Amino acid sequence: MHTEAEITITLMPDNVTVTVPAGENLLRAAHAAGVHVNSSCGGQGTCGKCRVLIKSGSVQGGKTEKISENDFRRGYRLACTSHAFSRLEVEIPAESRLHRGVLDLNDTRKPTGRLASASGMEILPEKGQRSLVVEKKILSVDPPSIENNMSDLSRTLRAMKKQHGIEHIGVDYHVIRKLSRTLRDGNWKVTATLLNEQPGARLQTRPSARLVNIEQKNTADRHLAVAVDVGTTTVCGELIDMVRQEILAGASDYNRQMRYGDDVISRIVFAQKGDGLSILQRAVVDSINGVIDMLLDKGDADRRDISHVMASGNTVMTHILCNLNPEYIRTAPYTPTVNAMPPVRAADLGISLEEHAYVSIVPLVASFVGGDIVSGVLASGLHRNKENTLFIDIGTNGEIVVGNSEWLMTASCSAGPAFEGGGIRHGMRATFGAIEEIRRHMNRSCSP
Ligand code: FES
Repeated sequence: MHTEAEITITLMPDNVTVTVPAGENLLRAAHAAGVHVNSSCGGQGTCGKCRVLIKSGSVQGGKTEKISENDFRRGYRLACTSHAFSRLEVEIPAESRLHRGVLDLNDTRKPTGRLASASGMEILPEKGQRSLVVEKKILSVDPPSIENNMSDLSRTLRAMKKQHGIEHIGVDYHVIRKLSRTLRDGNWKVTATLLNEQPGARLQTRPSARLVNIEQKNTADRHLAVAVDVGTTTVCGELIDMVRQEILAGASDYNRQMRYGDDVISRIVFAQKGDGLSILQRAVVDSINGVIDMLLDKGDADRRDISHVMASGNTVMTHILCNLNPEYIRTAPYTPTVNAMPPVRAADLGISLEEHAYVSIVPLVASFVGGDIVSGVLASGLHRNKENTLFIDIGTNGEIVVGNSEWLMTASCSAGPAFEGGGIRHGMRATFGAIEEIRRHMNRSCSP
């Protein structure tokens, strides 16, 4: 049922119909319908990427220098500058759509099977600190007696100190809530999941670890984590078996923030409008949740066994993921809110994992030098080499680092518009139609 002030718009080829207030612009109508239309500039009317074809009905606006006279006569308009006042049928042409098939191609190229670098995890901790961010410990807790009726929590922490030498442990409320039942149902044999303090995120000396989960019996064999690369354009994840140090599955999706602009500046601008920040935060969390669903499916794994998510991304992406205002990253003197974010409960960010799962964010360096380049340095180990090494990460936000074990220098630039056509006519995203590889034949000719 819709009022006279509302109209219906049918979007093809998905054949999705949405009811919007009369006068709504077509880009926002497509967003409301959950239909993607490319919009590099985030609806500013400057990129010309949001072309749509009006099949029936008429719109107001949409005529700019980005649409030729000929195309205008054929019914092409810019979605972000066209307003609907009557029932419409609108075609989203191929050049304005996303092609997820390319992501599926990438997901099939996962022959690694093991963590990329044998030294990938143990290089993170400083001397004397425990090595994994999240670990499971099996505990045998003394049952209470009339002579010893100290609380369940006290005896659990005492067992941790006696059996594993770990003390000064903070405890999550949800653990306390289920502690007495778990201890008794497990016949005083339990598995405790500890979240260890991370190097770089050290906010205080104590506690050194946090008890985030307690399970009956021995579940140490079921210990999974997810690594997520939160890119400006794509979100890629891997499901990791922490016991066997194996990658069980890989999956990726487009970052659903793309509909609000292609580059980090457009996203910052959008975040400053109304509830823009929470819209962007929900969009990236939806993408991460979709990737986790795919990982669980491909890895035939149980969501409850995931205790940790390690997320890496540029400064703007990680700020938005953590619901932090990215505004001051863009304006002089270019200040991020935080360089080393303490771990956050996944559920607090909207990530669909159990209440014991935490998200750690790879620390960032500066406003436009983020956790993705830090991850690259750690994974490649260039900070331990005596020789100078140059490392380049060409993403939508491009970052570069050069140096050795004594010094490192870094810089960044907006690479997406240069390579992906965000702000130029001749350029495109890495999708169908883009040249990915060139082969040189014996007769010296080349083919894409
Ligand atoms: S011109 Fe419409 S989104 Fe850029």
